[in-house]
Amino acid sequence: MKMNGKIAAGITADESYAPELLNPFVHHLELGTTYEKIKTGIFTILLLPIRVVIICALLIAGWLIAIIGLWGLKEEDLRERPVTGWRRKLTGLVCFLGKTTYTAGGLHMVIKGRQASRSEAPILVIAPHSTFFDGGIIYVTGFPSIIVRRESGANPYIGKLINFTQPVYVWRDDPDSRQNTIREIISRATSPLDWPQILIFPEGTCTNRSCLITFKPGAFYPGVPIQPVCIRYPNKLDTVTWTWEGPSALKLLWLTLTQVYSYCEIEFLPVYTPSEEEKRDPKLFAKNVRNVMAKALGVPVLDYTYDDCKLMTRAKEMNLPNANSLVEVQKLRRRLGLDQTNVEETLIDSQIICKDCSKITFTEFAKYLNLSTNDLIVQQLFRYYDKNSPGVIDFREYLLGVLATSKNRSTLDSIKIACKIYDSSGVGKLSMDDFARALNHTLAMRIEETFDIFHQIDKPRLNYVTFEKFQSYAEKKAEFAGLFSLSKEEKFKPRNDNNICPEYDKKNE
Ligand SMILES: *[C@@H]1O[C@H](CO)[C@@H](O)[C@H](O)[C@H]1NC(C)=O
Ligand SMILES: *[C@@H]1O[C@H](CO)[C@@H](O)[C@H](O)[C@H]1NC(C)=O
Ligand SMILES: *[C@@H]1O[C@H](CO)[C@@H](O)[C@H](O)[C@H]1NC(C)=O
Ligand SMILES: *[C@@H]1O[C@H](CO)[C@@H](O)[C@H](O)[C@H]1NC(C)=O
Ligand SMILES: *[C@@H]1O[C@H](CO)[C@@H](O)[C@H](O)[C@H]1NC(C)=O
Repeated sequence: MKMNGKIAAGITADESYAPELLNPFVHHLELGTTYEKIKTGIFTILLLPIRVVIICALLIAGWLIAIIGLWGLKEEDLRERPVTGWRRKLTGLVCFLGKTTYTAGGLHMVIKGRQASRSEAPILVIAPHSTFFDGGIIYVTGFPSIIVRRESGANPYIGKLINFTQPVYVWRDDPDSRQNTIREIISRATSPLDWPQILIFPEGTCTNRSCLITFKPGAFYPGVPIQPVCIRYPNKLDTVTWTWEGPSALKLLWLTLTQVYSYCEIEFLPVYTPSEEEKRDPKLFAKNVRNVMAKALGVPVLDYTYDDCKLMTRAKEMNLPNANSLVEVQKLRRRLGLDQTNVEETLIDSQIICKDCSKITFTEFAKYLNLSTNDLIVQQLFRYYDKNSPGVIDFREYLLGVLATSKNRSTLDSIKIACKIYDSSGVGKLSMDDFARALNHTLAMRIEETFDIFHQIDKPRLNYVTFEKFQSYAEKKAEFAGLFSLSKEEKFKPRNDNNICPEYDKKNE
């Protein structure tokens, strides 16, 4: 009986033909052995309090020096010219205190290679970015300017230290913030004045260091020589990695401070001078620098941004059709301008025009999307879907996949769309099979469960349900509560929206 249901619904369990995407935004950390647990317990009592006291004292000292260093300076002074004289000397003292703070915490910074001067390389490019501990590099590199959100500067403690680096501020409420930031970086990097170097984490978010993700081009626009700097944490137990899925900042801080010692290795690579071509093409420049760094680190490069991985994770969680290819599919859609025209949305709103959307040919596909059949990108897009039966694709799967993963849609919204797309009646009356498909491809629900729900909703035995009926049913059930709260979205709220590289804030792109 159940088998029949599955076949009738025509849902195939396995659709993972595309290679699995690695997700470097997770960090699994467990205190493995009892020995380690006991050790951590003992050091929490013996070592942690002493370290915390020393660190706090050093931080306060650093803060006071920053206040002194900024004394009597106006905002314009800081923005227009580099500080000089005794103020500049004080930055050296802040660096000393900063480095001592790390040593007091047991995190030893080991330096390899030689830092270039500003005249050799006005910009330092740091990767991989994996934790807030990376901030220590600011002290090691002699207090370079960082790029931070304006709001971070307002923080009464950290704001003083940030302001003392003479940062490039990003104004979030400024609609041209991206352009202005890039302009500011260019003018700093090419200025004849003796500014500090600019320090940039081009990945823009933290990974678990297993690969280098896409470098944002910000650091590469000025087309000046840059010095790549690699960060490693060669420790047996990784207590530092702070990425999107994994231990909290506080837990990491605790575990790191209860290690007797750990290492942070900072390697200055040779200065990279861009070719003429790279000067004209910041993206190419960024890519080539990333390759150099990946080679030095011995890790692969992954052409994914954080947004891509977020999309992929969600698509898989929802069991969207063709989930593994959706990142590529969305990229092709963008190249075709479909994200602008929203043809797909118009199609489902205007009642889909195809007679049998489960099997459409390439010519029909191109026609529905108002694209040319000669376009190679259109052909490529089609090919992502015709793996099972060459020549025809299930247009519904295409529509659901792209619509559910565009525009920050909620899961409930996606279910609504799925109900429209899989509705074989055309009037919103979903049969048991339609309904099963819709829920399997949005809530990853097993077919037997969907049949149960169907029967509970369809008490009058009409042999159909509607999206609205499902919605009012779900509102009353605890297991669907997630659909009506923000929990799903909140899970992906940037937790390490740190102030080191928010120029590349995910939300602003
Ligand atoms: C780091 O990311 C990779 C994917 O690139 C993953 O395979 C690995 O399990 C992750 N490491 C940890 C410790 O979570
Ligand atoms: C840092 O500078 C900005 C503007 O230059 C200012 O608005 C902010 O209050 C300063 N932060 C602190 C803590 O003084
Ligand atoms: C189809 O695309 C052409 C340009 O390629 C455009 O002029 C036309 O308005 C589009 N039609 C629809 C229905 O979107
Ligand atoms: C995306 O969704 C979240 C949660 O529903 C919301 O807070 C945010 O403003 C949305 N962003 C955009 C760009 O629509
Ligand atoms: C429905 O989705 C789940 C994912 O949770 C999957 O395991 C299952 O095979 C799918 N199809 C059916 C027929 O249940």
